[in-house]
Amino acid sequence: MSNVSGNRYLKEKQAVYAAPGVKSRRNIIILSVIGGLILLIVAVVVPIYFAVIKPHSHKNESASGSTGSSSGSPSSTGAPTPPKAAIVTGGDGSTITLDDGSTMIYSNKFGGSWYHDPSDPFNNAAQAQSWSPALNQTFHWGTDRIRGVNLGGWLTTEPFISPALYQKYPGTVDEWELSAAMAADTAGGGLGQLEDHYKTFITEADFAQIAGAGLNFVRIPIPFWAIETWSGEPFLAKTAWTYFLKAIGWARKYGIRINLDLHALPGSQNGWNHSGRLGTISFLNGTMGLANAQRSLDYIRIIAEFISQPQYKDVVVMFGITNEPQVPFIGQENLQRYYLQAYNVVRNAGGVGAGNGPLISYHDGFAGLNNWAGFLPGADRIGLDYHPYLCFATQTSDPMSANVNKPCTAWGGAMNDSMTAFGFTAAGEFSNAINDCGTFVNGVGQGTRYEGTYATGGPWPKIGSCDSWINWQSWDATMKNNIQSFALSSMDALQHWFFWTWKIGNSTTSGTVESPAWSYQLGLQNGWMPTDPRSANGVCGNTDPWSGKLPASATGGSGAGNIPASATSSIGWPPTAISNAADPTLLPQYTQTGPIPTLPVPTFSASGSASIDAGNGWANPSDTVGVAVPIASCSYLSPWVESAVAAPPACPTGAAARAVPRSQVTPAPRQ
Ligand SMILES: *[C@@H]1O[C@H](CO)[C@@H](O)[C@H](O)[C@H]1NC(C)=O
Ligand SMILES: *[C@@H]1O[C@H](CO)[C@@H](O)[C@H](O)[C@H]1NC(C)=O
Ligand SMILES: *[C@@H]1O[C@H](CO)[C@@H](O)[C@H](O)[C@H]1NC(C)=O
Ligand SMILES: *[C@@H]1O[C@H](CO)[C@@H](O)[C@H](O)[C@H]1NC(C)=O
Ligand SMILES: *[C@@H]1O[C@H](CO)[C@@H](O)[C@H](O)[C@H]1NC(C)=O
Repeated sequence: MSNVSGNRYLKEKQAVYAAPGVKSRRNIIILSVIGGLILLIVAVVVPIYFAVIKPHSHKNESASGSTGSSSGSPSSTGAPTPPKAAIVTGGDGSTITLDDGSTMIYSNKFGGSWYHDPSDPFNNAAQAQSWSPALNQTFHWGTDRIRGVNLGGWLTTEPFISPALYQKYPGTVDEWELSAAMAADTAGGGLGQLEDHYKTFITEADFAQIAGAGLNFVRIPIPFWAIETWSGEPFLAKTAWTYFLKAIGWARKYGIRINLDLHALPGSQNGWNHSGRLGTISFLNGTMGLANAQRSLDYIRIIAEFISQPQYKDVVVMFGITNEPQVPFIGQENLQRYYLQAYNVVRNAGGVGAGNGPLISYHDGFAGLNNWAGFLPGADRIGLDYHPYLCFATQTSDPMSANVNKPCTAWGGAMNDSMTAFGFTAAGEFSNAINDCGTFVNGVGQGTRYEGTYATGGPWPKIGSCDSWINWQSWDATMKNNIQSFALSSMDALQHWFFWTWKIGNSTTSGTVESPAWSYQLGLQNGWMPTDPRSANGVCGNTDPWSGKLPASATGGSGAGNIPASATSSIGWPPTAISNAADPTLLPQYTQTGPIPTLPVPTFSASGSASIDAGNGWANPSDTVGVAVPIASCSYLSPWVESAVAAPPACPTGAAARAVPRSQVTPAPRQ
């Protein structure tokens, strides 16, 4: 989310619902009872089954998780009993074995089925709900509805989503500072604490719950340091990627599609804490603005090459190449140049046409949907990403009840219009917040606009106390109903959406969620989020919603990728001018001669897995250009330069790059 007025998002507080301890004890009891029943059934039924029924029928046992198919009859005559085939699929009520070895009962009232066969790990038979195409079927953009959640704050952290991480290191405001503080605290667990967070904040059980909640997509923010870091960057390098690989496996198991959202880019594309570093925008702005964009385009390429491989392309079907770049500082023309270049990079990895790599999702940069009408006509599978938030603009004293229909009028028509004027349009983020109440939603120590204590951007006249917006435990049925109505209005207005976010972690100070408006899971557990998101259909009373069909060219069909030259001739790469910087031909640039840090593929340990082809991380073998690295004879500013600097002297190589003084970050050796 962004925290500028207009659309933005926020911070976190901790969520709570049924006390987890109680819940897990109850689950254990339930599981024990069910386990006992299953044993009883197996003991009594299986012998009867094999003795009496099997010779006469041949039903497909694997469709239910309650009994396994067997490749041979049990025998009491001393003949060896062949091993039971593992159960690989199941629906509502089936027992799932999670990847940590524990089990849970799958709850999915919507006809969804999980599928997991360790000897066939790329099987895409799973289906999230009866109305969502199985992963091995075509998802029809614009026709099949996206009902999704973000897994925000997991692989890219944010103070308000996992406050406890930040509360341990008071004063840290972004992952840069958090990482540095953790690394200095070896006694407290060091930088490895981030991996502990990856391990625990989102697990396989969340994916099972998401499918059971009627949701069919997850948007997963990942940072560039999932790929690598450069010297001087304090982030935990490469580790997040291994958890993203787990997410692919879990999504595949439950039939959920992934929108991979590149959330944090070198130099920061928006200056917000969730970009990795709060402060200056050094992406397409300032002296290192071009170099940072070059480096970012290579990260986009590396990701696109991975997710376009046949093993992954039907799970990671959407790629948000850059989260929330700020047009007000970068300029829309340069963002368009960058978007076109990224389009070429992504399509080069997977090819053009349906099935060849992801739909490319472009954030609107806060320029407004209508300013993207007509962008890249004929482009193959592109989408516009909108993040509508009511909560960061002017605060209102209206109660929740007065807000329930606002999303309909605020966004319904705009989304509808954009589907025609631009093409596929989805809301990559929205929440239930109508004000900025919530721990760290406004930043460490900044206060809240609602309470009139926010430090910057005012004046913010005090509206009231945030307490009643934060203390969700005291919400009554009316309040919960009103929040649910607001959520349903939002879903109907947005049509294709990803709630921000699935989970908010507990605050250390209260032991509970302190930003309840931002947690889908908390709302489900406590009765203010819909148990069936289809109940949103039509609540806005929209008698004329967009019901068209996207042109074939926009969904990978005939004409896909035929962008008229007139639409691209004025937005070539690189830009001809960059905000707060010298002529781009005089700016530091990188050269594409570095070794490619290909992303690793998952490994499998099941017997027979040696023959499994997980790919080599690179879809297009003819894409052999190296990646952006410094020109050896030139020196550079830090990619994270904080302020304007004097024009650099000429680079001795005579390359386009010019030398500038070295600073604390040396963008050279890769880690
Ligand atoms: C927050 O703490 C409560 C109480 O211990 C627990 O039940 C709940 O699962 C926690 N929530 C999260 C999101 O971790
Ligand atoms: C998808 O998987 C299911 C279950 O294995 C299978 O029956 C179906 O034929 C598959 N569909 C396609 C299009 O491969
Ligand atoms: C843009 O870059 C200039 C020069 O580095 C810097 O002073 C300014 O703060 C940057 N703008 C933003 C919004 O960060
Ligand atoms: C939806 O868009 C279509 C086509 O632009 C338009 O005719 C219709 O009036 C719009 N409906 C709404 C509710 O905005
Ligand atoms: C972190 O980002 C969120 C979302 O943009 C914002 O609301 C909050 O103010 C930021 N916190 C800090 C300390 O900058």
